[in-house]
Parts: sequence; C-alpha cells; structure tokens
Amino acid sequence: MRTLYFVAKLSYSDKLAFKGYPVAKTKLVLGIETSCDETAAAVVACHKCVLSNVVYSQIKEHKNFGGVVPEIAARAHMQTCGLVVERAINDAGITLSDITAVAATAGPGLIGGVLIGMQMAKAMAFSRNCSFIGVNHLQGHALVTRLTDVTNFPFLLLLISGGHTQLLVAKGVADYTILGTTLDDAAGEAFDKVAKILGLGYPGGAAIERRAKNGDKEAYCLPRPMKGKPNCHFSFSGLKTRVKQIVEGRGDPIKDRTIENMCASFQDAVAQSLSDRVLRAMHVFREKYGKGTMDFVVAGGVAANAHIRTTLKRCAQLYNFHFRVAPVEYCTDNAVMIAWAGIENLELGKASPLSMPARPRWSLEDL
Ligand code: KG4
Ligand code: ZN
Repeated sequence: MRTLYFVAKLSYSDKLAFKGYPVAKTKLVLGIETSCDETAAAVVACHKCVLSNVVYSQIKEHKNFGGVVPEIAARAHMQTCGLVVERAINDAGITLSDITAVAATAGPGLIGGVLIGMQMAKAMAFSRNCSFIGVNHLQGHALVTRLTDVTNFPFLLLLISGGHTQLLVAKGVADYTILGTTLDDAAGEAFDKVAKILGLGYPGGAAIERRAKNGDKEAYCLPRPMKGKPNCHFSFSGLKTRVKQIVEGRGDPIKDRTIENMCASFQDAVAQSLSDRVLRAMHVFREKYGKGTMDFVVAGGVAANAHIRTTLKRCAQLYNFHFRVAPVEYCTDNAVMIAWAGIENLELGKASPLSMPARPRWSLEDL
C-alpha cells in the first residue's frame, strides 16, 4: 500500500491549527475512489488541506493479463477498500465522527468497482448520519487544480486519461460543455496499447515516458492525427497502428535502442497532436470568452507526462492562458480529487440521495 501524503502523527486539529485554519468551522470530507484499478481513500478539509491520501494500486493483480480485468478489479476493491479507508482515517488523525460527508466515485467506470466504493460510502454516511455525495470521476479530475492551485471559472479543460480525451469549457462546478472528444482511442489508451506492442507491459504510460528519456524523438516519422482540422476532436488509433506496422515490419525482435527511439517519437507525436487540438480550442474559447487571462487546466493520468506538460505549457503561453496542472500524484487516479469534488458539491448544497445509482457511463455534460 502506498501512502502518497504523510504528516507525522498529529491530530487533525493540530494539523489545521498548525496551518492557521479555524478548526471549529472545518468541514472534513472522506473521498473514496474505486472506478478502475486503484483503490483509494483520502480525507480533505474544506480549506484546501489534504489530511491523508492512500492509494492501493492493483498493478500486481492485472500485470499477467496485460490490462485491467474488470472481475479481478472488483474482487481486489472488495478486499482492500475497507483497509484503505481505515488507513486514510488513521493517517488523517481523525475519528469517523469528525467527518462531515462521505464522497465516492459514482461513475463513469467499471461498474463492479464503482458499486463497491459507493456502497461503502453510503453505509458510512447512513451510519454516521452525515451527507453522501456521489461524484463524477471526470469532475474529480477537472476540479483538482482548484485544490492545488487557483483556478477560476470559466476555464478551458483538457482531460487526458485512460478512458477519456476531451476538450471542455468548465463554466461552473457542475456545468461543462464539450468542445471536442476522441473519435477512437483515448490518449492514455494509446499509450497503453503502444506499450504492449513494444513489450513494455502494463501499465504503459509511465513505462513509455521512462524509456523515451534516452530516445530520439526525430527517429521515426509518425503521423499527427487530426492536425489542422477545423474542429476540436482527437484521434489516436492511426498513430498506434503506424507504430505497430513499423515494429512488425522489422521482422526481427526489437532492440533497446529501437524501443527508446520509438517511445520518444510516439510520445512527441501525442504531445504535438494534443497541442494542435488545444490551440484550436483556445481560439474557440477566446471567441466566446474574450481576451482576458484565463485558466487552461490539463487533468487526468496522461497529464503526469513531463514532455506533454511542457508542450502544453507552451500553448498556454502562446494564447495568454494561466497553465494549471496538478502535481503528478493528483493527475493519476486518487481519492483526494474525489473528496475535493465532494467539498465543492457540498458547498453548493449538492449532496446525493442514498438511492443514487452507479453510472458506468456519465458525461460531464449530464451532471
Ligand atoms: O486518470 P487515470 O489514472 O485513469 C483513468 O481515469 O483512466 O489515467 C490512466 C492513464 C493510463 O492510460 C496511463 O497509461 C496514463 O494515464 N498515464 C500516463 C502516464 N502516467 C499514467 N501516460 C503518459 N505518461 C505518463 N507518465
Ligand atoms: Zn481517472
């Protein structure tokens, strides 16, 4: 089990007092995230103070299968969810009775896992007689820079994860308009598939970034999907297919140097493709919201990639946007973002009924 955030054993009131927050007025939200292959729990206070952050990654369980197996994921969530929640509460130095609300991912995601996290959150909220908040996982990604940084509405949002690649205008906590989306694979999915083709196993994104460090990004001439198109959509499956053709066309087993060069070339192709689409979206955003300096947020697991962050930061500078991206541990799946989205919803009086269903598919436009 990996604890990403740890503060020496202080009570939560000591931690808040240390940071100068009024303990009596503090709302504490426990967040639970179980939508894919991470079982995570965190406690966050309403004044942007992270009291604990626990992530149990199921990499070991899925590695032999080369990807996430939904039944195995659900079983692993079932086995670890209680322990992870207990650890988050202990690390935070609180007791259950200190919690104002329990937030859990209610979708989109793998239904087995989502149901386990939601049921645990509902049971805890019911037994403690506190609020339950069913959070949209993508909303968690979208809002996390409002916890780690200053981010004001309306902002332009690039969401790049394993299941989604979208450009959106975020007009409020629960108000989003999609400008563009992927026509085939998500960016993270392309990273994972290319990693598989190159024999780097699962999970792929971080492995490709590691190998790309020593590679030459000019070594292979790969396509820049959708470049110059007058919309804000994406496409990554052609890029993945080109990598496959090159690798299979060689005939012999690929050597280390080839892998490093291919990783660097592929990573740069994704970065350039994202950047072309983002510049288009910035233009569209500017036409509607004017010339003032506004925020451009990049969120989701692929935002952990340093080359992609640097490339997108340049786009922001070009169009006079503030570039906002969370620390790497809050880009990939975590429960801090779910707890924080819970706080944002709670502040708007948006608690959820205990009858709320899990939603395997759930667009940000349908909040
Ligand atoms: O947001 P996330 O943790 O889960 C979903 O909501 O899908 O995103 C996971 C995706 C995976 O496809 C993974 O390969 C990719 O994010 N990823 C990365 C990196 N770290 C994770 N992609 C590129 N570079 C990375 N360093
Ligand atoms: Zn995610």
